[in-house]
Amino acid sequence: MNQPKGWTFMNENGSFALRTPQDTQYLYFPLVNEAGMMSSVTPTLHGDAKTGHNTFLTPPVSVEDLHNSRASRNFWVHIEGEEVWSAAGSSPKQHAEAFSGKREDTLLEAGFLWHKITRTHPALGLTAEITSFVPNTDDAVEYMRVKLTNGGSRTLTVTPTAAIPMYARSADDLRDHRHVTSLLHRIAVGEYGVHVQPSLSFDERGHRVNRVTYSVLGAEGDGTAPVGFFPVLEDYIGEGGSLEWPKAVVTHAKPHAAAGDSAEGYESVGALRFREADLAPGESRTYVLALTVEEDRPDETRLARDYLSEARFGQLLEESVVYWEAKLGKLAFRSGDRDHDLWMKWVTLQPVLRRLFGNSFLPYHDYGRGGRGWRDLWQDCLALLFTEPAEVRHLLLNNFAGIRMDGSNATIIGSKPGEFIADRNNIPRVWMDHGAWPFLTVLLYLHQSGDLGFLLEEQPYFKDIHIKRCKDKDLEWKPLDGSVQRTADGEIYRGTVLEHLLLQNLVPFYHVGEHNIIKLEGADWNDGMDMGTKRGESVAFTAFYASNLMELGKLLRELERRTGLAEIQVSEEMVLLFDTLSAPIDYGSIGEKHRLLDAYYERTGHTVSGRRTALKIGDAARDLEQKGQWLARHLQEQEWIAQEEGIGWFNGYYDDDGNRVEGVTPDGVRMTLTGQVFHLMGGTATEEQAAQMAAAVNRHLKDPRIGYRLNTDFGGIRQNLGRAFGFAFGHKENGAMFSHMAVMYANALYKRGFVREGHDVLDSIYRLSADFERSRMYPGVPEYINERGRGMYPYLTGSASWLLLTELTEVYGVKGGYGDLLLDPKLLRTQFDAEGKAGVVTLFAGKMLRIVYSNPNGADAGAYTVRSVRLNGSGVETEQRPEGCAVKRETLLAAGGEAVDVEVELI
Ligand code: G1P
Repeated sequence: MNQPKGWTFMNENGSFALRTPQDTQYLYFPLVNEAGMMSSVTPTLHGDAKTGHNTFLTPPVSVEDLHNSRASRNFWVHIEGEEVWSAAGSSPKQHAEAFSGKREDTLLEAGFLWHKITRTHPALGLTAEITSFVPNTDDAVEYMRVKLTNGGSRTLTVTPTAAIPMYARSADDLRDHRHVTSLLHRIAVGEYGVHVQPSLSFDERGHRVNRVTYSVLGAEGDGTAPVGFFPVLEDYIGEGGSLEWPKAVVTHAKPHAAAGDSAEGYESVGALRFREADLAPGESRTYVLALTVEEDRPDETRLARDYLSEARFGQLLEESVVYWEAKLGKLAFRSGDRDHDLWMKWVTLQPVLRRLFGNSFLPYHDYGRGGRGWRDLWQDCLALLFTEPAEVRHLLLNNFAGIRMDGSNATIIGSKPGEFIADRNNIPRVWMDHGAWPFLTVLLYLHQSGDLGFLLEEQPYFKDIHIKRCKDKDLEWKPLDGSVQRTADGEIYRGTVLEHLLLQNLVPFYHVGEHNIIKLEGADWNDGMDMGTKRGESVAFTAFYASNLMELGKLLRELERRTGLAEIQVSEEMVLLFDTLSAPIDYGSIGEKHRLLDAYYERTGHTVSGRRTALKIGDAARDLEQKGQWLARHLQEQEWIAQEEGIGWFNGYYDDDGNRVEGVTPDGVRMTLTGQVFHLMGGTATEEQAAQMAAAVNRHLKDPRIGYRLNTDFGGIRQNLGRAFGFAFGHKENGAMFSHMAVMYANALYKRGFVREGHDVLDSIYRLSADFERSRMYPGVPEYINERGRGMYPYLTGSASWLLLTELTEVYGVKGGYGDLLLDPKLLRTQFDAEGKAGVVTLFAGKMLRIVYSNPNGADAGAYTVRSVRLNGSGVETEQRPEGCAVKRETLLAAGGEAVDVEVELI
């Protein structure tokens, strides 16, 4: 068997090509639009198409279905006197020849955001080129064009039949009344295709009258309608047949149905028969298919006009390419490595995909019902701040409505911004890291925009039955009160964004376990650390909260300095949490911390007073800084593990038996990457420790085959820590190279000035992901790389946001400083091109900045500084700040045009 050579970029747009993609398992490509169509397509046209959990047009698939199930999009060609050929490559014969010399020649090409598979019948020279995309229209439609070309020497008489299995219902029904729900099917045959509008929908919402209609429509390139249809699945496949060998096609049966016919109560298929045609040598014929999900019975005439011709297909494809180019063009990197830059384009796409798909709806992501988790909501905003900035302020503000008065947050997030839903299943759970992320994202926003007024915007709090971080219930609360926190007078209580942030970070400070470390609760960033709910503690995220507290203090001082604001208003109950302002407690005493927190809980469990207290900004800042510094000292004194001269790291966890998790044990070294990252990022590790930690990571976690692992092998399942340790070592949250944490590690290294080490991490992620023979994935960063080196869970991962953020703000050093532009590149010499240039395009202050760094002396990071900055050819004044060379926002705004050329000389 020939090994695939891997994909190669075909042009500067990032389109890539891959020969014989069917030789690789589990490959799939996402297709999506803002109107809600979400599709995945494989080289054999497998995958699925849906608009949500309850509205799958084709049967929902998980990765193993991609090779297991026969229910895929297919396009059959009956060739008179020859055979029946699947242009999609899905027939028994094609499978049987997979490893033989008779294997069909195929080529996969894909770009933003289209997928094309070309397949040639080896004996007849008949080629099928099948292009799929989801157009950027207001319809939820997946669009396919099949072009048959006779590359042989004699005329072929062909009769095509397109066949798209129509599941037409909720994913819940896959293993819950699959048959019964087929009885709901109402099938109507139109002029161009098959429409299925089930009478009722059966899903978690109950049994409801259904209006949603699923359609498979088709026409020849010139708009000629199909000649007939086979709408009922069991008739189409026939007794003894299957979707991969359908009797209707194989026996060349006459169509079973025509426009105006209907059927009820059967599984259905969008099987469309096109007229017989003679294909002379060199001649081509084109067929166009539209798979739609409409809220109600569709207007077929309109759909036919809008979609069913080759001309429309070409036009919409062009528009789609322009649309994605424009979107992705908002952030682009240019270094000395073209392939890396093009690969980064695919990474830039990923946060947009996650906004559109959520964490579900691609084959590896075979869980959830759409939507995203709280943590991901905030992580994804990091990249959207650069690529889709217009919406972000609104999005961020809305997210604050999900926070409870106890600093925890709603975990069920609705589809509309700011929509948070009370937990229906009543499985209360708090992830202890959740409170830490919003501040990080908001700080980035503030630096990018200078919009300090954002902190003073008001938002309600989320309220449900759960109180005391889900450790108790407020039995007075009624769902009828709505999911908002009310005052004793029944009014909706609103607090500033700043107040929300303070609560999120202050409550955990008191919520400590027996080592005076913040409790692990339901888990932290690692969702798999979920079995330390009683005595578990997360040192890793205590470090994050520690630096947040210090940074919040700094931010308050900045707020005062920049706006002249002398006081902040907080809810009167919250004043307790600023203990140093009235009755300071001993932070070393766990009991005192708990008592204070209990007192706060008592006052906020059901309603709040609605009254506010003014705090002097300076006092509040000092209180926060004292807390942060106390924590930092405590971590330093208690959690450092010194292995040997030059090698040490921080313990990251305590388990449910109260035992320290990390260290050098008789069974080997136990170390996590998570445990190190936030000490580095937030500064709770000293300079000296940082170097020792990097050395420890290199010794214990770095594996040239799969990269920087999340942890060493702890051995055995750990029922006192989490389900992650039930996973085999080297997989997912147990010791894989988990991109999100690895990228955050790189980010932290860059922040601390460990440029080469940071670069090594990013470079390793790129190389492992792009090494197709091992990673077996298309360009982009996977959620993780497993023990075999395979890239898993492509496309939908928070690591993409972090990778973009790290490249832009650390590697290229382009960041905001309360609205001003800061330039502090940390590019290595090798990252500049042959002319000593490297560039990045990014949106800042509403302008497209085309930044080009010149490094005429070929100096390395650390050996150059910004000597001069020119905007549109003219030199401008800059200011040297500790965070980098600053160009004032006003200066940028004064530069003419929407796009500004920024030339930066590095000497
Ligand atoms: C996923 C989740 C993320 C979580 C991580 C580790 O990572 O989305 O919230 O922290 O697993 O459990 P992702 O797929 O975003 O890389």
